[in-house]
Amino acid sequence: MKTIVLATNNASKVKELNAILATNGNSGFKVLSLKDCGFNSDIEENADTFEGNAYIKARTVAEFTGLAVVADDSGLEVDALNGAPGVFSARYAGEGATSGQLIEKLLTEMKGVSMEERTARFTTVMCAVLPTGKVLTARGECHGIITETPMGDGGFGYDPVFYYPPANKTFAELTAEEKNGISHRAIAVKKLINTLGSLEDADFEPKMQ
Ligand code: IMP
Repeated sequence: MKTIVLATNNASKVKELNAILATNGNSGFKVLSLKDCGFNSDIEENADTFEGNAYIKARTVAEFTGLAVVADDSGLEVDALNGAPGVFSARYAGEGATSGQLIEKLLTEMKGVSMEERTARFTTVMCAVLPTGKVLTARGECHGIITETPMGDGGFGYDPVFYYPPANKTFAELTAEEKNGISHRAIAVKKLINTLGSLEDADFEPKMQ
């Protein structure tokens, strides 16, 4: 059994990772949360890329636990806003902003932008830091269009204004299962899990602290 720590306090991300592992028939991993490892400090995510922030989180927790640690960083990049909100997606409308506030800010910034110019993408970067010091990263992207009004009430964050052409729906109009099947996060997780699955058990041996 390869043990990995998912560096998040978000219980639904741990649940989602376990669900993705289960649907891939992958029972070779045991997933621990930060709480399981007794890690309860805040990690400052001060990099200006998703890769940088995912690495900071994974490395910090790997140093604390001596275990293989996986961390993610995600966000929305809007072409008409030169890639904003990007790494600031969660804080775009101020610290602790609700989904409604984030959407309101985004739609205000995009007033007057034509439909053709409302292209955007959700990105997730997953980073694994192994006890050996090895660092692996995987990226998942979903391309879509920012709508002029919110539609649907599923999901979280910017989902109600992210229209995804292959489904002809916004992300908030998809069921959780549908979104988990195609999301940027799911793409990145699957890529990383494939790579981790191909490594030796020795790569996951806890490092003596
Ligand atoms: P995190 O790095 O996964 O915590 O994502 C940072 C922020 O990006 C979230 O707080 C959301 O505002 C936004 N975000 C990331 N993924 C999604 C998604 O799948 N749907 C909607 N918003 C998302």
